[in-house]
Amino acid sequence: MDREIVHIKVDKVSKSFKNDNGRIEVLKNVDFEILKGEFLTFFGPNGCGKSTLVNILAGIEQSNSGNISFPELNRQPRIGFVFQNYRDSLMPWLNVEKNICFPLKLKGVSKKEQQERLDTIVSEFEINIDLKSKVYNLSGGQAQMVSILRGLIVNPEILILDEPFSALDYQTNLMLYEEILSIWRKLKITVILISHEIDEAIYLGDRVAFLSKKPASIFEILDSDLPRPRKLEDMGSKEFVNLKQKALNIFKNAAQ
Ligand SMILES: Nc1ncnc2c1ncn2[C@@H]1O[C@H](COP(=O)(O)OP(=O)(O)OP(=O)(O)O)[C@@H](O)[C@H]1O
Ligand SMILES: [Mg+2]
Repeated sequence: MDREIVHIKVDKVSKSFKNDNGRIEVLKNVDFEILKGEFLTFFGPNGCGKSTLVNILAGIEQSNSGNISFPELNRQPRIGFVFQNYRDSLMPWLNVEKNICFPLKLKGVSKKEQQERLDTIVSEFEINIDLKSKVYNLSGGQAQMVSILRGLIVNPEILILDEPFSALDYQTNLMLYEEILSIWRKLKITVILISHEIDEAIYLGDRVAFLSKKPASIFEILDSDLPRPRKLEDMGSKEFVNLKQKALNIFKNAAQ
């Protein structure tokens, strides 16, 4: 990672929504920077605005005020997005390969180019999923892998994953942690991942950003400076347990 280059600068971003009782303030003056090639994890109380924040980063949602910039680029970066409810976000009437290629189809990319891109990522990540299968035949882990590949098909500079592991069993999660870390190592892209498991947020991230409760702002950012490459057993190390203790203290204060 080039620790010098700011990839995304988020400057005093605020967001409220209309609801039955008037307006609900969700984000208030969210301010932070993400470095190029960094793996940043977000951790925060339920419903505090985590999805809203990454939706704004990805341009799916508009903020009411504040600014998001990409100082190193003169254009919008290519962003791959993995939605919170992966089952709902896959299209059951399409098979695996058509789901993965869907963002390219939306962009009007030719069938030939779609196929080439698909072949590249399938071989790069040694995917053992039947590409012709309908997505409802897949296990949870396989379906989540399909959503991750759909995020990668656009050749992203930034990959955003909104709680990618929340609906899966523990064993599948451990396998997917390794997949995500290997994707990140190979592609050297910037990754933003929302998590509601503190162990996961520390294990995966270079830094863990804690959001306060609603209206959310960045409460504190913890350096998760464990050496890399990391192994699952590292989650039992003294350094890890120390970091977790720090993280729990921050979370307790952030949620007050
Ligand atoms: N389009 C919308 N219209 C109205 N309110 C919304 C909208 N989207 C989100 N909200 C409200 O904004 C708040 C934050 O929602 P958001 O989904 O960003 O939280 P979250 O931290 O991702 O939650 P979770 O932990 O459940 O994933 C919630 O109170 C939610 O009801
Ligand atoms: Mg959410």
